[in-house]
Amino acid sequence: MRGVTDTHPAPLLAPDDLARLREALVRARYTSTGIAERIGAPAVEAVRRNDFRALLRATTDGDPLATLVRVFIAGQTEPEAAVAAALGPLPLDAALEAGLVERYGDGIHAGVDLDIYGEAATGSGDAEWWVLSDLDADARPGPLRTDHVLGIGNAATTLAGATVRRPVGTALDLGTGCGVQALHLSRHAARVTATDLSDRALRFAATTAALNGVEWELLAGDMLAPVAGRRFDLVVSNPPFVVGPGSTRYTYRDSGRAGDRVCAELAGAAGDLLTEGGTLQFLANWLHVTGEDWHDRVAGWFAGTGCDAWVIQREVSDPVEYVNLWLRDAAEAFDPRRAEAWLDWFAAEKVEAVGFGLVTLRRSPHPTPVVRLEDLRHSVPPPFGPHVAEWFDRQDWLAAHPGPALLDAPLRRADGLRLTQEAGFDGADWDVERQVLTMSTGLRWAEEVDPLVLALVSGADGRVPLRDQLAVLAAAYETPEPVLAAMAVPIVAHLVERGLLVPAGR
Ligand SMILES: C[S@@+](CC[C@H](N)C(=O)[O-])C[C@H]1O[C@@H](n2cnc3c(N)ncnc32)[C@H](O)[C@@H]1O
Repeated sequence: MRGVTDTHPAPLLAPDDLARLREALVRARYTSTGIAERIGAPAVEAVRRNDFRALLRATTDGDPLATLVRVFIAGQTEPEAAVAAALGPLPLDAALEAGLVERYGDGIHAGVDLDIYGEAATGSGDAEWWVLSDLDADARPGPLRTDHVLGIGNAATTLAGATVRRPVGTALDLGTGCGVQALHLSRHAARVTATDLSDRALRFAATTAALNGVEWELLAGDMLAPVAGRRFDLVVSNPPFVVGPGSTRYTYRDSGRAGDRVCAELAGAAGDLLTEGGTLQFLANWLHVTGEDWHDRVAGWFAGTGCDAWVIQREVSDPVEYVNLWLRDAAEAFDPRRAEAWLDWFAAEKVEAVGFGLVTLRRSPHPTPVVRLEDLRHSVPPPFGPHVAEWFDRQDWLAAHPGPALLDAPLRRADGLRLTQEAGFDGADWDVERQVLTMSTGLRWAEEVDPLVLALVSGADGRVPLRDQLAVLAAAYETPEPVLAAMAVPIVAHLVERGLLVPAGR
Protein backbone atom coordinates (compact mmCIF):
# COMPACT_ATOMS: atom_id res chain seq x y z
CA MET A 1 0.00 0.00 0.00
CA ARG A 2 1.26 3.46 -0.87
CA GLY A 3 0.84 5.55 2.25
CA VAL A 4 2.79 7.46 4.83
CA THR A 5 4.95 5.87 7.48
CA ASP A 6 7.29 7.99 9.52
CA THR A 7 10.35 5.95 10.18
CA HIS A 8 13.89 6.20 11.33
CA PRO A 9 15.21 3.69 8.86
CA ALA A 10 18.00 1.58 10.26
CA PRO A 11 21.26 1.76 8.34
CA LEU A 12 22.52 -1.54 6.93
CA LEU A 13 25.10 -1.68 9.73
CA ALA A 14 24.82 -0.95 13.45
CA PRO A 15 26.31 2.43 14.48
CA ASP A 16 29.51 0.90 15.91
CA ASP A 17 30.04 -1.15 12.79
CA LEU A 18 29.46 1.90 10.58
CA ALA A 19 32.18 3.69 12.50
CA ARG A 20 34.42 0.65 11.96
CA LEU A 21 33.70 0.61 8.23
CA ARG A 22 34.49 4.30 8.03
CA GLU A 23 37.74 3.68 9.89
CA ALA A 24 38.65 0.92 7.42
CA LEU A 25 37.97 3.15 4.42
CA VAL A 26 39.91 6.07 5.86
CA ARG A 27 42.81 3.89 6.93
CA ALA A 28 43.09 2.20 3.53
CA ARG A 29 42.76 5.60 1.79
CA TYR A 30 39.76 4.42 -0.21
CA THR A 31 39.29 7.91 -1.63
CA SER A 32 39.76 9.32 -5.13
CA THR A 33 43.13 10.80 -4.11
CA GLY A 34 44.29 7.62 -2.41
CA ILE A 35 43.33 5.51 -5.41
CA ALA A 36 44.80 7.92 -7.97
CA GLU A 37 48.08 7.97 -6.08
CA ARG A 38 48.08 4.19 -6.01
CA ILE A 39 47.08 3.33 -9.58
CA GLY A 40 47.97 6.56 -11.41
CA ALA A 41 45.88 9.07 -13.34
CA PRO A 42 45.92 7.13 -16.66
CA ALA A 43 44.50 4.05 -14.93
CA VAL A 44 41.79 6.18 -13.29
CA GLU A 45 40.93 7.61 -16.70
CA ALA A 46 40.86 4.11 -18.20
CA VAL A 47 38.44 2.92 -15.50
CA ARG A 48 36.06 5.72 -16.51
CA ARG A 49 35.99 4.05 -19.92
CA ASN A 50 35.44 0.62 -18.34
CA ASP A 51 39.00 -0.47 -19.07
CA PHE A 52 40.25 -2.09 -15.85
CA ARG A 53 43.57 -3.53 -17.11
CA ALA A 54 45.87 -0.93 -15.58
CA LEU A 55 43.90 -0.94 -12.33
CA LEU A 56 44.19 -4.70 -12.01
CA ARG A 57 47.93 -4.60 -12.75
CA ALA A 58 48.47 -1.95 -10.06
CA THR A 59 46.54 -3.76 -7.33
CA THR A 60 48.10 -7.21 -7.04
CA ASP A 61 49.65 -6.76 -3.60
CA GLY A 62 46.66 -7.85 -1.51
CA ASP A 63 46.98 -4.87 0.84
CA PRO A 64 43.75 -3.17 2.10
CA LEU A 65 43.50 -0.47 -0.58
CA ALA A 66 44.31 -2.90 -3.39
CA THR A 67 41.68 -5.33 -2.08
CA LEU A 68 38.96 -2.68 -1.64
CA VAL A 69 39.60 -1.33 -5.13
CA ARG A 70 39.49 -4.79 -6.70
CA VAL A 71 36.30 -5.75 -4.86
CA PHE A 72 34.29 -2.53 -5.06
CA ILE A 73 35.58 -0.93 -8.24
CA ALA A 74 36.73 -3.80 -10.44
CA GLY A 75 34.07 -6.33 -9.29
CA GLN A 76 36.66 -8.99 -8.45
CA THR A 77 36.36 -11.94 -6.09
CA GLU A 78 39.21 -11.77 -3.58
CA PRO A 79 40.51 -14.14 -0.88
CA GLU A 80 38.54 -14.08 2.35
CA ALA A 81 41.57 -13.22 4.50
CA ALA A 82 42.45 -10.23 2.33
CA VAL A 83 38.86 -8.88 2.40
CA ALA A 84 38.63 -9.39 6.16
CA ALA A 85 41.90 -7.47 6.59
CA ALA A 86 40.76 -4.69 4.24
CA LEU A 87 37.46 -4.18 6.06
CA GLY A 88 38.95 -4.47 9.53
CA PRO A 89 38.20 -3.34 12.21
CA LEU A 90 34.72 -4.11 10.80
CA PRO A 91 34.27 -7.86 11.37
CA LEU A 92 33.79 -9.74 8.11
CA ASP A 93 30.68 -11.43 9.55
CA ALA A 94 29.07 -8.01 10.09
CA ALA A 95 29.86 -7.01 6.51
CA LEU A 96 28.44 -10.30 5.22
CA GLU A 97 25.31 -9.99 7.32
CA ALA A 98 24.71 -6.43 6.09
CA GLY A 99 25.08 -7.63 2.51
CA LEU A 100 28.07 -5.36 1.93
CA VAL A 101 30.01 -8.33 0.62
CA GLU A 102 29.03 -11.88 -0.30
CA ARG A 103 30.73 -15.24 -0.39
CA TYR A 104 31.37 -16.40 -3.94
CA GLY A 105 33.16 -19.68 -4.61
CA ASP A 106 36.06 -19.72 -2.18
CA GLY A 107 36.36 -15.94 -2.06
CA ILE A 108 34.41 -12.79 -1.34
CA HIS A 109 32.94 -10.26 -3.75
CA ALA A 110 30.91 -7.06 -3.48
CA GLY A 111 27.28 -7.30 -2.39
CA VAL A 112 26.63 -3.59 -2.91
CA ASP A 113 28.14 -0.72 -4.81
CA LEU A 114 30.42 1.31 -2.53
CA ASP A 115 31.10 4.27 -4.74
CA ILE A 116 33.43 7.21 -4.23
CA TYR A 117 31.60 10.26 -5.50
CA GLY A 118 32.08 13.96 -5.08
CA GLU A 119 31.17 17.46 -6.07
CA ALA A 120 33.84 17.27 -8.77
CA ALA A 121 31.28 15.30 -10.83
CA THR A 122 29.14 18.43 -11.06
CA GLY A 123 31.86 21.06 -10.83
CA SER A 124 30.29 22.46 -7.67
CA GLY A 125 33.11 21.94 -5.17
CA ASP A 126 35.58 19.43 -3.80
CA ALA A 127 33.66 17.50 -1.15
CA GLU A 128 33.79 13.74 -1.57
CA TRP A 129 31.61 10.97 -0.15
CA TRP A 130 31.13 7.20 -0.02
CA VAL A 131 27.78 6.24 -1.49
CA LEU A 132 26.08 2.89 -1.04
CA SER A 133 23.63 1.53 -3.58
CA ASP A 134 22.70 -1.76 -5.20
CA LEU A 135 25.10 -3.17 -7.78
CA ASP A 136 24.03 -2.12 -11.24
CA ALA A 137 23.05 -4.43 -14.08
CA ASP A 138 26.63 -4.69 -15.39
CA ALA A 139 27.93 -5.90 -12.05
CA ARG A 140 25.32 -8.56 -11.26
CA PRO A 141 23.84 -10.99 -13.77
CA GLY A 142 20.08 -11.16 -14.35
CA PRO A 143 17.33 -8.57 -14.05
CA LEU A 144 17.44 -6.00 -11.27
CA ARG A 145 15.50 -6.62 -8.07
CA THR A 146 12.19 -4.78 -8.20
CA ASP A 147 13.24 -2.69 -5.19
CA HIS A 148 16.65 -1.96 -6.74
CA VAL A 149 18.34 1.04 -5.12
CA LEU A 150 19.76 3.05 -7.94
CA GLY A 151 23.41 4.06 -7.95
CA ILE A 152 24.77 7.33 -9.26
CA GLY A 153 24.02 7.58 -12.96
CA ASN A 154 23.70 10.25 -15.61
CA ALA A 155 20.27 11.40 -14.42
CA ALA A 156 21.54 11.86 -10.85
CA THR A 157 24.53 13.93 -11.93
CA THR A 158 22.41 15.91 -14.39
CA LEU A 159 20.05 16.94 -11.60
CA ALA A 160 22.87 17.53 -9.12
CA GLY A 161 24.68 19.70 -11.67
CA ALA A 162 21.53 21.68 -12.47
CA THR A 163 20.59 22.38 -8.87
CA VAL A 164 20.86 25.95 -7.66
CA ARG A 165 23.50 25.78 -4.92
CA ARG A 166 22.74 28.92 -2.94
CA PRO A 167 22.58 28.65 0.86
CA VAL A 168 19.10 27.67 2.10
CA GLY A 169 17.54 26.83 5.45
CA THR A 170 15.49 23.77 4.52
CA ALA A 171 15.87 21.36 1.62
CA LEU A 172 13.96 18.26 0.54
CA ASP A 173 15.19 15.40 -1.65
CA LEU A 174 12.08 13.54 -2.84
CA GLY A 175 12.84 9.94 -3.86
CA THR A 176 16.31 9.95 -2.37
CA GLY A 177 17.40 6.40 -3.27
CA CYS A 178 21.05 6.07 -2.27
CA GLY A 179 21.01 9.70 -1.01
CA VAL A 180 23.11 11.33 -3.73
CA GLN A 181 21.05 14.51 -4.01
CA ALA A 182 20.80 14.79 -0.22
CA LEU A 183 24.60 14.66 0.03
CA HIS A 184 24.88 17.64 -2.27
CA LEU A 185 22.12 19.45 -0.34
CA SER A 186 24.05 18.89 2.91
CA ARG A 187 26.66 21.30 1.58
CA HIS A 188 24.37 24.33 1.39
CA ALA A 189 21.18 23.56 3.33
CA ALA A 190 20.98 23.93 7.11
CA ARG A 191 18.47 21.05 7.34
CA VAL A 192 17.96 18.23 4.86
CA THR A 193 14.88 16.02 4.62
CA ALA A 194 14.91 13.02 2.31
CA THR A 195 11.96 10.79 1.45
CA ASP A 196 11.41 7.58 -0.43
CA LEU A 197 8.62 5.08 -0.99
CA SER A 198 11.11 2.25 -0.63
CA ASP A 199 12.25 1.15 2.82
CA ARG A 200 15.25 -0.50 1.23
CA ALA A 201 16.27 2.81 -0.39
CA LEU A 202 15.88 4.59 2.94
CA ARG A 203 18.16 2.06 4.64
CA PHE A 204 20.80 2.68 1.98
CA ALA A 205 20.36 6.44 2.33
CA ALA A 206 20.67 6.15 6.12
CA THR A 207 23.88 4.17 5.65
CA THR A 208 25.28 6.70 3.18
CA ALA A 209 24.45 9.56 5.58
CA ALA A 210 26.01 7.88 8.61
CA LEU A 211 29.12 6.82 6.72
CA ASN A 212 29.70 10.41 5.70
CA GLY A 213 28.85 11.92 9.07
CA VAL A 214 25.83 13.93 7.87
CA GLU A 215 22.35 14.02 9.39
CA TRP A 216 19.14 13.94 7.44
CA GLU A 217 15.52 13.56 8.39
CA LEU A 218 14.52 10.40 6.51
CA LEU A 219 10.83 9.79 5.88
CA ALA A 220 9.02 6.95 4.16
CA GLY A 221 5.96 7.40 1.99
CA ASP A 222 4.41 8.15 -1.34
CA MET A 223 5.49 11.36 -3.06
CA LEU A 224 4.64 14.37 -0.89
CA ALA A 225 2.59 12.51 1.71
CA PRO A 226 5.45 12.31 4.25
CA VAL A 227 5.91 16.11 4.19
CA ALA A 228 2.26 17.14 3.84
CA GLY A 229 1.68 20.65 5.18
CA ARG A 230 5.40 21.50 5.24
CA ARG A 231 7.30 23.97 3.08
CA PHE A 232 10.92 23.98 1.95
CA ASP A 233 13.31 26.54 0.52
CA LEU A 234 14.63 24.05 -2.01
CA VAL A 235 13.14 20.79 -3.25
CA VAL A 236 14.96 18.50 -5.67
CA SER A 237 13.76 15.26 -7.18
CA ASN A 238 14.88 12.70 -9.70
CA PRO A 239 11.47 11.00 -9.52
CA PRO A 240 10.42 7.69 -11.04
CA PHE A 241 9.40 9.55 -14.18
CA VAL A 242 9.27 6.72 -16.72
CA VAL A 243 6.05 7.03 -18.72
CA GLY A 244 3.73 4.15 -19.54
CA PRO A 245 0.46 2.59 -18.49
CA GLY A 246 1.09 3.11 -14.76
CA SER A 247 3.36 0.21 -13.87
CA THR A 248 4.87 -0.35 -10.43
CA ARG A 249 7.33 -3.00 -11.64
CA TYR A 250 10.58 -1.26 -10.63
CA THR A 251 10.37 1.23 -7.77
CA TYR A 252 13.35 3.25 -9.00
CA ARG A 253 11.64 4.15 -12.27
CA ASP A 254 7.89 3.34 -12.15
CA SER A 255 5.58 5.58 -10.13
CA GLY A 256 2.31 3.70 -10.60
CA ARG A 257 0.87 6.79 -12.27
CA ALA A 258 -0.18 6.56 -15.91
CA GLY A 259 1.55 8.68 -18.53
CA ASP A 260 3.43 11.68 -17.19
CA ARG A 261 1.12 12.19 -14.20
CA VAL A 262 3.81 11.77 -11.59
CA CYS A 263 5.61 14.84 -12.92
CA ALA A 264 2.34 16.78 -13.26
CA GLU A 265 1.55 15.88 -9.65
CA LEU A 266 4.91 17.08 -8.39
CA ALA A 267 4.71 20.35 -10.33
CA GLY A 268 1.13 20.95 -9.24
CA ALA A 269 2.12 20.66 -5.58
CA ALA A 270 4.83 23.35 -5.81
CA GLY A 271 2.67 26.22 -4.56
CA ASP A 272 1.99 24.48 -1.24
CA LEU A 273 5.45 22.98 -0.93
CA LEU A 274 7.73 25.97 -1.35
CA THR A 275 8.50 28.83 0.98
CA GLU A 276 8.31 32.32 -0.49
CA GLY A 277 10.90 32.48 -3.27
CA GLY A 278 11.58 28.74 -2.79
CA THR A 279 12.66 26.55 -5.70
CA LEU A 280 11.62 23.08 -6.91
CA GLN A 281 13.84 21.35 -9.45
CA PHE A 282 13.17 17.97 -10.96
CA LEU A 283 13.91 15.81 -13.95
CA ALA A 284 10.86 14.88 -15.96
CA ASN A 285 9.47 13.02 -18.91
CA TRP A 286 6.44 14.33 -20.76
CA LEU A 287 4.28 13.02 -23.55
CA HIS A 288 4.15 14.41 -27.04
CA VAL A 289 0.59 13.57 -28.03
CA THR A 290 -0.81 13.87 -31.55
CA GLY A 291 -2.64 17.16 -31.98
CA GLU A 292 -1.28 18.65 -28.75
CA ASP A 293 1.67 21.00 -28.37
CA TRP A 294 4.03 19.70 -25.64
CA HIS A 295 4.52 23.27 -24.45
CA ASP A 296 0.80 23.57 -23.68
CA ARG A 297 0.68 20.19 -22.03
CA VAL A 298 3.57 20.86 -19.64
CA ALA A 299 2.58 24.49 -19.02
CA GLY A 300 -0.76 23.10 -17.81
CA TRP A 301 1.08 21.44 -14.91
CA PHE A 302 1.87 24.84 -13.39
CA ALA A 303 -1.60 26.41 -13.56
CA GLY A 304 -2.58 27.93 -10.24
CA THR A 305 0.76 27.20 -8.52
CA GLY A 306 1.81 30.86 -8.43
CA CYS A 307 5.25 29.75 -9.58
CA ASP A 308 7.61 31.02 -12.23
CA ALA A 309 8.55 28.05 -14.35
CA TRP A 310 11.45 27.33 -16.64
CA VAL A 311 11.32 24.04 -18.51
CA ILE A 312 14.06 22.95 -20.84
CA GLN A 313 13.61 20.00 -23.12
CA ARG A 314 16.97 18.25 -23.53
CA GLU A 315 15.96 15.17 -25.52
CA VAL A 316 13.05 13.71 -27.43
CA SER A 317 12.76 9.94 -27.97
CA ASP A 318 10.43 8.02 -30.20
CA PRO A 319 8.35 5.35 -28.40
CA VAL A 320 10.25 2.31 -29.71
CA GLU A 321 13.61 3.79 -28.76
CA TYR A 322 12.18 4.78 -25.35
CA VAL A 323 10.68 1.39 -24.49
CA ASN A 324 13.82 -0.47 -25.57
CA LEU A 325 15.98 1.84 -23.48
CA TRP A 326 14.01 1.20 -20.32
CA LEU A 327 13.68 -2.54 -20.90
CA ARG A 328 17.47 -2.69 -21.27
CA ASP A 329 17.95 -0.47 -18.20
CA ALA A 330 16.48 -3.12 -15.91
CA ALA A 331 18.59 -5.82 -17.64
CA GLU A 332 15.55 -7.96 -18.33
CA ALA A 333 15.77 -10.61 -21.03
CA PHE A 334 14.20 -9.02 -24.09
CA ASP A 335 10.54 -9.97 -24.17
CA PRO A 336 8.76 -8.78 -27.31
CA ARG A 337 5.38 -9.14 -25.56
CA ARG A 338 6.34 -6.75 -22.79
CA ALA A 339 7.57 -4.25 -25.37
CA GLU A 340 4.37 -4.80 -27.36
CA ALA A 341 2.10 -4.07 -24.40
CA TRP A 342 4.00 -0.89 -23.57
CA LEU A 343 4.05 0.30 -27.19
CA ASP A 344 0.34 -0.51 -27.61
CA TRP A 345 -0.36 1.78 -24.68
CA PHE A 346 1.60 4.56 -26.41
CA ALA A 347 -0.38 3.97 -29.60
CA ALA A 348 -3.74 3.97 -27.77
CA GLU A 349 -2.82 7.25 -26.05
CA LYS A 350 -1.63 8.73 -29.39
CA VAL A 351 1.85 9.29 -27.96
CA GLU A 352 4.27 10.18 -30.73
CA ALA A 353 7.34 10.85 -28.62
CA VAL A 354 8.60 11.37 -25.09
CA GLY A 355 10.37 14.53 -24.00
CA PHE A 356 13.01 14.58 -21.28
CA GLY A 357 14.21 17.64 -19.47
CA LEU A 358 14.62 19.76 -16.41
CA VAL A 359 11.77 21.57 -14.68
CA THR A 360 12.52 24.45 -12.33
CA LEU A 361 9.74 26.20 -10.44
CA ARG A 362 10.11 29.14 -8.15
CA ARG A 363 7.36 30.52 -5.94
CA SER A 364 7.02 33.78 -7.76
CA PRO A 365 7.56 37.13 -6.11
CA HIS A 366 5.73 38.72 -9.08
CA PRO A 367 1.98 39.17 -9.61
CA THR A 368 2.16 37.42 -12.98
CA PRO A 369 4.42 34.38 -12.94
CA VAL A 370 6.65 33.78 -15.95
CA VAL A 371 6.26 30.38 -17.57
CA ARG A 372 8.81 29.52 -20.22
CA LEU A 373 9.20 26.17 -21.98
CA GLU A 374 11.89 25.76 -24.59
CA ASP A 375 14.15 23.31 -26.33
CA LEU A 376 17.75 23.51 -25.19
CA ARG A 377 19.35 20.56 -26.92
CA HIS A 378 22.84 21.95 -27.48
CA SER A 379 25.55 21.21 -24.97
CA VAL A 380 26.32 23.70 -22.22
CA PRO A 381 29.52 23.15 -20.22
CA PRO A 382 28.77 22.13 -16.61
CA PRO A 383 27.75 23.11 -14.02
CA PHE A 384 24.28 24.11 -15.16
CA GLY A 385 22.98 25.21 -11.75
CA PRO A 386 24.47 28.73 -11.87
CA HIS A 387 22.71 29.28 -15.22
CA VAL A 388 19.40 28.35 -13.64
CA ALA A 389 19.95 30.76 -10.77
CA GLU A 390 20.90 33.55 -13.20
CA TRP A 391 17.85 32.87 -15.39
CA PHE A 392 15.58 33.62 -12.43
CA ASP A 393 17.70 36.64 -11.48
CA ARG A 394 17.20 37.96 -15.00
CA GLN A 395 13.44 37.44 -14.68
CA ASP A 396 13.51 39.57 -11.54
CA TRP A 397 15.43 42.26 -13.37
CA LEU A 398 12.94 42.17 -16.25
CA ALA A 399 10.02 42.36 -13.84
CA ALA A 400 11.63 45.46 -12.29
CA HIS A 401 11.97 47.03 -15.76
CA PRO A 402 8.61 46.32 -17.41
CA GLY A 403 7.78 47.29 -20.99
CA PRO A 404 9.31 50.55 -22.16
CA ALA A 405 11.28 50.96 -18.88
CA LEU A 406 13.58 48.33 -20.34
CA LEU A 407 14.78 50.84 -22.90
CA ASP A 408 15.78 53.32 -20.20
CA ALA A 409 18.29 50.94 -18.64
CA PRO A 410 21.86 50.77 -19.89
CA LEU A 411 22.53 47.30 -21.24
CA ARG A 412 25.74 45.77 -22.51
CA ARG A 413 26.26 42.95 -24.96
CA ALA A 414 27.43 39.71 -23.32
CA ASP A 415 31.14 38.98 -23.42
CA GLY A 416 32.33 36.69 -26.18
CA LEU A 417 29.40 37.05 -28.61
CA ARG A 418 30.16 35.69 -32.08
CA LEU A 419 28.45 36.73 -35.29
CA THR A 420 27.96 34.30 -38.15
CA GLN A 421 26.76 35.62 -41.47
CA GLU A 422 25.32 33.62 -44.36
CA ALA A 423 25.41 35.31 -47.74
CA GLY A 424 24.19 34.43 -51.21
CA PHE A 425 25.90 35.65 -54.37
CA ASP A 426 23.52 37.62 -56.57
CA GLY A 427 25.77 37.67 -59.63
CA ALA A 428 27.49 40.88 -58.67
CA ASP A 429 27.82 40.90 -54.93
CA TRP A 430 27.43 38.87 -51.76
CA ASP A 431 24.08 39.51 -50.18
CA VAL A 432 23.88 38.78 -46.43
CA GLU A 433 20.73 36.72 -45.95
CA ARG A 434 21.03 35.52 -42.39
CA GLN A 435 22.94 36.65 -39.32
CA VAL A 436 23.25 34.64 -36.15
CA LEU A 437 24.65 35.82 -32.82
CA THR A 438 26.04 33.00 -30.71
CA MET A 439 27.06 33.15 -27.07
CA SER A 440 30.44 31.58 -26.37
CA THR A 441 29.68 31.57 -22.64
CA GLY A 442 26.53 31.19 -20.53
CA LEU A 443 23.74 29.16 -22.08
CA ARG A 444 25.34 29.22 -25.54
CA TRP A 445 22.16 30.34 -27.26
CA ALA A 446 22.31 31.13 -30.97
CA GLU A 447 19.90 33.88 -32.05
CA GLU A 448 19.07 34.91 -35.58
CA VAL A 449 19.00 38.72 -35.68
CA ASP A 450 17.98 41.28 -38.28
CA PRO A 451 20.27 44.23 -39.09
CA LEU A 452 18.42 46.56 -36.72
CA VAL A 453 18.68 44.24 -33.74
CA LEU A 454 22.31 43.57 -34.60
CA ALA A 455 22.97 47.31 -34.59
CA LEU A 456 21.24 47.59 -31.21
CA VAL A 457 23.27 44.75 -29.68
CA SER A 458 26.52 46.01 -31.22
CA GLY A 459 25.97 49.46 -29.74
CA ALA A 460 25.03 48.13 -26.28
CA ASP A 461 28.19 49.08 -24.41
CA GLY A 462 26.59 49.46 -20.98
CA ARG A 463 26.99 53.21 -20.94
CA VAL A 464 23.90 54.53 -22.70
CA PRO A 465 20.30 53.35 -22.43
CA LEU A 466 18.96 51.57 -25.51
CA ARG A 467 16.44 54.40 -25.92
CA ASP A 468 19.30 56.73 -26.95
CA GLN A 469 20.46 54.21 -29.52
CA LEU A 470 16.92 53.84 -30.82
CA ALA A 471 16.74 57.56 -31.52
CA VAL A 472 19.79 57.27 -33.77
CA LEU A 473 18.49 54.11 -35.45
CA ALA A 474 15.06 55.67 -35.99
CA ALA A 475 16.69 58.41 -38.03
CA ALA A 476 18.87 55.96 -39.97
CA TYR A 477 15.94 53.64 -40.77
CA GLU A 478 13.49 56.49 -41.28
CA THR A 479 11.06 54.90 -38.85
CA PRO A 480 9.28 56.81 -36.09
CA GLU A 481 11.00 56.18 -32.78
CA PRO A 482 7.83 55.04 -30.92
CA VAL A 483 7.26 52.39 -33.62
CA LEU A 484 10.83 51.19 -33.29
CA ALA A 485 10.57 51.18 -29.48
CA ALA A 486 7.37 49.11 -29.52
CA MET A 487 9.07 46.58 -31.80
CA ALA A 488 12.26 46.55 -29.73
CA VAL A 489 10.79 45.93 -26.26
CA PRO A 490 9.88 42.21 -26.64
CA ILE A 491 13.06 41.49 -28.61
CA VAL A 492 15.28 43.18 -26.04
CA ALA A 493 13.43 41.41 -23.21
CA HIS A 494 14.07 38.09 -24.96
CA LEU A 495 17.78 38.87 -25.40
CA VAL A 496 18.06 39.87 -21.73
CA GLU A 497 16.26 36.68 -20.68
CA ARG A 498 18.70 34.58 -22.68
CA GLY A 499 21.70 36.55 -21.48
CA LEU A 500 22.85 38.11 -24.77
CA LEU A 501 22.18 41.55 -23.32
CA VAL A 502 23.26 42.13 -19.75
CA PRO A 503 22.13 44.92 -17.41
CA ALA A 504 25.12 47.23 -16.92
CA GLY A 505 27.00 46.58 -13.70
CA ARG A 506 26.27 42.84 -13.66
C1 LIG B 1 15.22 7.55 -10.25
S1 LIG B 1 15.42 7.13 -8.58
C2 LIG B 1 16.36 8.53 -8.00
C3 LIG B 1 17.32 8.22 -6.91
C4 LIG B 1 18.25 9.37 -6.52
N1 LIG B 1 17.53 10.45 -5.88
C5 LIG B 1 19.01 9.90 -7.72
O1 LIG B 1 19.02 11.12 -7.93
O2 LIG B 1 19.62 9.10 -8.45
C6 LIG B 1 13.80 7.45 -7.97
C7 LIG B 1 13.63 7.21 -6.50
O3 LIG B 1 12.26 7.50 -6.16
C8 LIG B 1 11.76 6.50 -5.29
N2 LIG B 1 10.30 6.41 -5.49
C9 LIG B 1 9.63 5.64 -6.37
N3 LIG B 1 8.31 5.85 -6.27
C10 LIG B 1 8.14 6.79 -5.31
C11 LIG B 1 7.01 7.41 -4.74
N4 LIG B 1 5.78 7.12 -5.16
N5 LIG B 1 7.21 8.30 -3.75
C12 LIG B 1 8.47 8.59 -3.31
N6 LIG B 1 9.57 8.04 -3.82
C13 LIG B 1 9.42 7.14 -4.80
C14 LIG B 1 12.51 5.25 -5.69
O4 LIG B 1 12.53 4.31 -4.66
C15 LIG B 1 13.88 5.81 -6.05
O5 LIG B 1 14.72 5.81 -4.93
